[in-house]
Amino acid sequence: MQVSVIGCGYLGAVHAACMAHLGHEVTAVDVDAAKVATLAAGRAPFFEPGLDELLAEVAPTGRLRFGTDPAAVAGARVHFLCVGTPQRAGDYAADLTYVDDAVAALLPHLAPGDVVVGKSTVPVGTAERIAAEVARVQPEATVLWNPEFLREGYAIGDTLRPDRIVYGLEDGPRGERARALLDEVYAAALADGVPQVVTDLATAQLVKVAANSFLATKISFINAMAELCEATGADVTSLADAIGHDDRIGRRFLNAGLGFGGGCLPKDIRAFMARAGELGVDQALTFLREVDQINLRRRTRLVDLAREVCDGSLVGVRVAVLGAAFKPNSDDVRDSPALSAAAQMQLQGAHVVVTDPKAVENARAVLPGLAYAETLEDAVGQADLVVLATEWSEYRELDPETVGALVAHRRVLDGRNVLDPARWRAAGWTYRALGRP
Ligand code: UDX
Repeated sequence: MQVSVIGCGYLGAVHAACMAHLGHEVTAVDVDAAKVATLAAGRAPFFEPGLDELLAEVAPTGRLRFGTDPAAVAGARVHFLCVGTPQRAGDYAADLTYVDDAVAALLPHLAPGDVVVGKSTVPVGTAERIAAEVARVQPEATVLWNPEFLREGYAIGDTLRPDRIVYGLEDGPRGERARALLDEVYAAALADGVPQVVTDLATAQLVKVAANSFLATKISFINAMAELCEATGADVTSLADAIGHDDRIGRRFLNAGLGFGGGCLPKDIRAFMARAGELGVDQALTFLREVDQINLRRRTRLVDLAREVCDGSLVGVRVAVLGAAFKPNSDDVRDSPALSAAAQMQLQGAHVVVTDPKAVENARAVLPGLAYAETLEDAVGQADLVVLATEWSEYRELDPETVGALVAHRRVLDGRNVLDPARWRAAGWTYRALGRP
């Protein structure tokens, strides 16, 4: 199938490469010439496990083309909208500039029978608005909403074999034709038995934000329990293990610690609240304000704990922060809890040195005032305090004796509850964590 992908960020670049891998003819466009040049040279513009290999695999087939000219999408039968919807500056709501620009660029190239497939996370109502614009310019084209649930770090697997495929479409023969066309695109996953939910446009748009709100709530729930554990001397990791055995609850997404960040969860729950306000149902989502607050309080709590273990002041204290990415297996530092805590410690007088296996360059671009080290050894050398802020496997597996030989003081804050407290204490470390005694 001839398909186009508009927007080559985390979502679009991975989607384009995966569609080409499945055998489709893909034209992917983006307004960022540098990003397009990198992708056209067969390299991923960001770190995503397997993406470089996938680009190299499809390059010789000639099935994947990147460019900046929106006219290149003409001739494709399915057009995937994959642009970002970041938080609007000074506001909770989503910034729809990229979506609106992408649609405006696409409209002149739509042919009868084309299907515009929205994958971006948008405030409910956006798809209907786009459908009206499309109908005005090309009445024989159709809009279908097909939200994306990919996780960074697992983006290729999540795209090729998602845990569900959701279509939002209009009733009637045009909707059915669009559905049949997209079923062809996703034939491999559907044949594999991936569950499919076919619904209306509004529901499909809500599914994405509802899912992310649920995940954010689950994380903040366990982080709220961590606050209780801190007040009572209880251990939130044992608590999570125990309640997680109830399969109605489940253990996943119950890891207490520095909380959630990244380019999705924080801005999605805020945009959802903003949209609920516009729809006159803000009360339905006021709990998400609490979810957001609990999450942000964890960052402050970590800094308070750092001060506490350093005898009440961070002034002049050398702190090694392990991790800058918002989660492991990613170089994404958008709304990273690790960087947020690092910056707060620096503002309180600490000399903070941040390291990360993949995200140092991105972190430096966002917070040039912090010191950065390329290696763990350079970061922890002569440190008065080590803070584990992102649970990369190399940090989880650290040996307390080896690290202990490098630091000035054996003090560690486990911001992700992944170290073995007994082992670190036995090696003479002061071990503290969030929600653990
Ligand atoms: C998320 C959703 O999982 C995905 O379905 C959606 O499409 C986009 O948003 P992503 O942002 O890649 O994906 O990250 P995710 O793995 O969900 O983690 C989000 C944040 O929550 C990270 O900062 C992570 O460290 C944190 N987290 C996750 C916890 O603090 N505790 C947990 O138990 C799980």
